[in-house]
This record gives sequence, structure tokens and C-alpha cells, in this order.
Amino acid sequence: MELFDVYPLLPVSIDRGLGCHVWDVNGQEYLDCYGGHAVISVGHSHPKYVKAMQEQVAKLGFYSNAVINPMQKKLAEKLGLICGYPDYQLFLVNSGAEANENALKLASFHTGKSRVIAFTKAFHGRTSLAVETTDNPKIVAPINDSGHVTRIPWENIDRTKQEINKGDVAAVIMEGIQGVGGINIPSSNFLQELRQLCTDNGVLLIIDEIQSGYGRSGRFYAHQHAGIKADIVTMAKGIANGFPMGAMIITPEIKPIYGMLGTTFGGNHLACAGACAVLDIIREEKLMQNATRVGQYLRDELSKLPEVKEVRGLGLMIGVEYHEPVKEKRLNLLINQHLFTGVSGTNIIRLLPPLCLSMHEAQDCVNRFKRV
Ligand SMILES: Cc1ncc(COP(=O)(O)O)c(C=O)c1O
Repeated sequence: MELFDVYPLLPVSIDRGLGCHVWDVNGQEYLDCYGGHAVISVGHSHPKYVKAMQEQVAKLGFYSNAVINPMQKKLAEKLGLICGYPDYQLFLVNSGAEANENALKLASFHTGKSRVIAFTKAFHGRTSLAVETTDNPKIVAPINDSGHVTRIPWENIDRTKQEINKGDVAAVIMEGIQGVGGINIPSSNFLQELRQLCTDNGVLLIIDEIQSGYGRSGRFYAHQHAGIKADIVTMAKGIANGFPMGAMIITPEIKPIYGMLGTTFGGNHLACAGACAVLDIIREEKLMQNATRVGQYLRDELSKLPEVKEVRGLGLMIGVEYHEPVKEKRLNLLINQHLFTGVSGTNIIRLLPPLCLSMHEAQDCVNRFKRV
């Protein structure tokens, strides 16, 4: 059987990882400033994470959501303490798209409305309504094009107001920092106005922190830099350091009803063990502070490189924009400098390293950039 060939693959096969480094099948080491696409939050094969996963799978990997799962309660307590939303409710799923699907569905249940506002350059996933909120017609199949989503230019508060005034909007969805769209940070002013607008009109504000959350920006969620609160926050990627998991936290104003949401695998014992270990490591190793410090250094140093147009980002979510396409440069970094990076669009190299990237590793990253 052949694989369904939908990924344009990099010519590398990764065999093992430790901290911020990975090794390919030939034993070649790479510095991982991509984190498997912002997924490796606390570092590859962190010993505390490995121990938690090993012990849990040896005891019980999975049992259904039809029974009490104390691991979910433990995770909710830990998350409530660290994320700044202790009074919110947690619902666990398996991926980012699934978290956004459930968030949008919940907003529709709660408001009784069916229109959603999303922004230009947004990426919210590839399933049903999540893909319709994503600003990429190439990945929206006719069946996803249901007419529920209105797209508004990024940060245009007046257009948002016009649409909300029509009275049929259930939710506004936006990323804490746009990732796929090119590392675009919303201004605090826009976020504060949007928050007020949603509150005044009974519209739910959903903030997708799937890429920008979990400490990556230096705060637990990127929107917290603007001092606002969302009604629903979605997360995934770094939540269990590579074990598939997604989640949303929900305002206490939305009351749960039995059967309203559900999933077979979401919040299973093994995922919860990984997620609890991740939160402990983030706290114990002060990884948010590290992301702030090391991210600032990287942005300062990379913006000095002669051919760079602009460096944007917060913490360890960084976009390095060039005047020309970066496809060759990224490949050159990977093959000749053994530095893993991501891309956004055509001209931006995206850095999404594990949050434990040390100052020394950041210097190493800058040196590898300098050598191309
Ligand atoms: C901001 C954002 N939302 C949603 C998703 C979708 O997450 P998943 O691929 O886990 O469905 C992604 C994935 O890159 C993302 O970056």
C-alpha cells in the first residue's frame, strides 16, 4: 500500500530527540528550532515526561469518558492554577481543529446563532467549520463552504462592529498570535475594543491559542499580554509535548448539559499524564520566563542579519521575514547547518523551538543562520 501523498516532505527522517536536539536515522544531530511545529513544549524526551507516560501506560492507558477519570480533574486543577482562568471549565479533545470545532459549536448552542466572524490570514484547522474559518480557499472543500463564516480584514474593528450589529453572530474567532499567517501580533488596543464589542452584544470571543499558547509567548496565553479575557480559549500542540491532545477552557457563564459535547479518546489517561507532567515542568523550570528571555535575544540578534526585512514575535514564537522567498534558505539551514526551522507563507522563516531552548542553543541557532 502507498501512503496518501499530501505532504511535501523535507529529505530527513528523525529517529530520536533529547531536549532541543534531534538526530536523523544516520546519526546526524540537528538543533530543533521548529519543535515539530510548536508541539515539543518542554523538550524532546524530557525525563520527567517520559517517566509519567511510562508509568501511566503500564498502569492504564485508556478508559472511556463514561467513568470518573481523576486524571482529568488533576489536569484541570493544575491548568486552572497556571493559566489565569481558575474559574473556567475544561473540555478535553484530541487535536487543535477538534478544539475549535467544539468551541464554535458551543458558541452556537449558547447564543442560538449560527454566524461566525474570522479574520484574514487566519488558520484554525482543517475540519468542517474550523477549515471554513481558515483563510485558505485551497483547503476548503465545497462541503465545508457552508456560508456560516464572514471574513473581516485583520484588526478592522469597524467592519467587525458592522457585522456584529446585524444580530446573528454567535462568535468571533481569532488566534492569540497568527502563526501560519506570518507571526502577526494583534494590538492590545484592537483586542480590548473587540472584547468590549463582544461583551456588549452577547457574542462569544474565542481565542485560538493552539500555536501561541501554553507559555510560548512568555505569558501562558498570548492574549494575556493585552490584559483581556476570552470566553473560550482553545489549545493543543504543546499541551502534552507530542502526545495528541487538544482542549478548550470555557467561561462559567456557559452551563454544560449532558451530551452537549463528547469524544471517545479526548482526555484519556495517558494524554492527561503527559499534560500534567508538561504543566509541572513548565512551572518548575520557569519555561515561560525562559521563553521571554531567550526569545528576546533571538529577535535582537536575528534582526541584525543583513538580508532580514523584519523580525516579529513574542517569546519563542518568532517570524524572520526576508525580502525574497525562503524555501532555499530553509533547506540550506536544514541540510548544511542542521538547523530545523518552519516557514510562513513564502518569505518568512518561523521559529517555534521547545520552550527550554537555552541561551547557548539560541547563540548556536544565530550562528547557524549567519553561516548560510
Ligand atoms: C492556530 C492554529 N489553530 C489550529 C490548528 C490546527 O491544529 P491541529 O493540526 O492539531 O488540528 C493549528 C495547527 O497548526 C494552528 O496553528
